Amino acid sequence: MKKFILGLIVGLLLPVIGGYLYIKMGMMPVATASAPLPMEEKIAHMALNARMAKEPLKESPVPADETNMTQGAHVYVEHCAFCHGFAGEKASFAAKGMFPLPPQLLSEDMVTDDPAGETYWKVSNGIRLTGMPGFNEMLTPTQMWQVSQLLAHANKLPDQTKAALAKPAAIPVVAPPATTTPQKPKK
Ligand code: HEC
Repeated sequence: MKKFILGLIVGLLLPVIGGYLYIKMGMMPVATASAPLPMEEKIAHMALNARMAKEPLKESPVPADETNMTQGAHVYVEHCAFCHGFAGEKASFAAKGMFPLPPQLLSEDMVTDDPAGETYWKVSNGIRLTGMPGFNEMLTPTQMWQVSQLLAHANKLPDQTKAALAKPAAIPVVAPPATTTPQKPKK
């Protein structure tokens, strides 16, 4: 019996100590470019889906009409496109350096068929440890519904809404040219 209990304690402790050492010795991947851990994405998505299943999805109080979806397009361009990209774009500026990748929500093969209530949940709460912010403090519920309706109908948008989703002309981010004559330090 004593041996059994000892075995049980050691058996329980070893994985804990192993896990601690794995992290403490810097073996856990933390850089965005590192390969994912086995099952990492599966477990993360399982957690998200299980959490979301705990409360009934809300119905949108905001109808999916042209005015609302165009407002949603303005929200999207201003607050989402940096990560989730513009129509026809393969990867947004930020997407190239993120893990997990933000899905390109307007690219043809990525357009979501999620109900607006599901997107609303993700937009208001965010998704921890992924880079997806929770917008509850920054956007009004109406704005969050508008952008959720936009995404739920992204494959059949009215022209006015499509126009509002266009990528603004790029402001080039370039380093200032190096000065040709090195400046002498002032005395
Ligand atoms: C700083 C980057 C960033 C910004 C800004 C951002 N997101 Fe995200 N978003 C992410 C990442 C990363 C994920 C992927 C999370 C995951 O893999 O679970 C994500 C996931 C999502 C998802 C879930 C997609 C799916 O297929 O399950 C939705 C919907 C979403 N974001 C909508 C939005 C909206 C709407 C906005 C703007 C109001 C926004 N996001 C702004 C990074 C961002």
